Amino acid sequence: MNLSKRLEAILSMIEPCQRLLDIGSDHAFLCIEAVKRGISKTAIAADNKQGPLDISKNNIKNENMSDLVIPVLSDGATNISKPCDCWVIAGLGASTITQILNDSLDKAKLVDQIIISTHSKVEEVRAFLYTNGFNITNQRMIKDGKYYPIIKTNYAGNKYDYTAYDLIIGNIEKDSTYYQWIDHQRKHYLELSKLNSEFDLYYQLFNQESFQNQSQDID
Ligand SMILES: C[S@@+](CC[C@H](N)C(=O)[O-])C[C@H]1O[C@@H](n2cnc3c(N)ncnc32)[C@H](O)[C@@H]1O
Repeated sequence: MNLSKRLEAILSMIEPCQRLLDIGSDHAFLCIEAVKRGISKTAIAADNKQGPLDISKNNIKNENMSDLVIPVLSDGATNISKPCDCWVIAGLGASTITQILNDSLDKAKLVDQIIISTHSKVEEVRAFLYTNGFNITNQRMIKDGKYYPIIKTNYAGNKYDYTAYDLIIGNIEKDSTYYQWIDHQRKHYLELSKLNSEFDLYYQLFNQESFQNQSQDID
């Protein structure tokens, strides 16, 4: 099964686990591959709509994995009773992701690794995590048509005194995709800040980060 570059990146950030819960799993591709590759022993493909779940059921059956990958109708993790040591919440907007976490906060606090990839407003997701005592342990930027940040987190119990930089840019692995994204954002916010001063801070942060990268090249 061929996964998108984004789903491959998410999979690569999962450490071996017992039971993966993919929230908003759509067609269960991630769960099937995680179990097939031995990354997770079993998996739950959760979705809040029957249509995607029916397709998941078929995909799981075609792979002869009906004992190992279980589709469950669930809004977020609310209908999940079995403990899962890894959660993936990907391909959703920031407000849906924070709502899912908030609705099942006690469960989320017990999860060893939560991998999050939002399609929008990553700063809202980071603010939610920091405010609720989660640690962000790893962050990567993937370009798969668009740029997608991927966050790895777990509950630590201590509130982090975050800065605007932590929310808007974040401590992302500094590879070539990261610097392409920084440059893309710098140009994007330069244009936006000409129209609306609300975006000045965004431009300043991306411009500074871009400048630091150029300085390192000169060194
Ligand atoms: C765009 S797909 C993302 C699929 C996959 N996770 C990915 O990243 O490619 C979003 C899926 O999440 C489901 N979804 C939306 N809100 C949800 C919620 N609150 N709980 C569970 N699933 C949800 C949708 O039905 C849809 O199948």
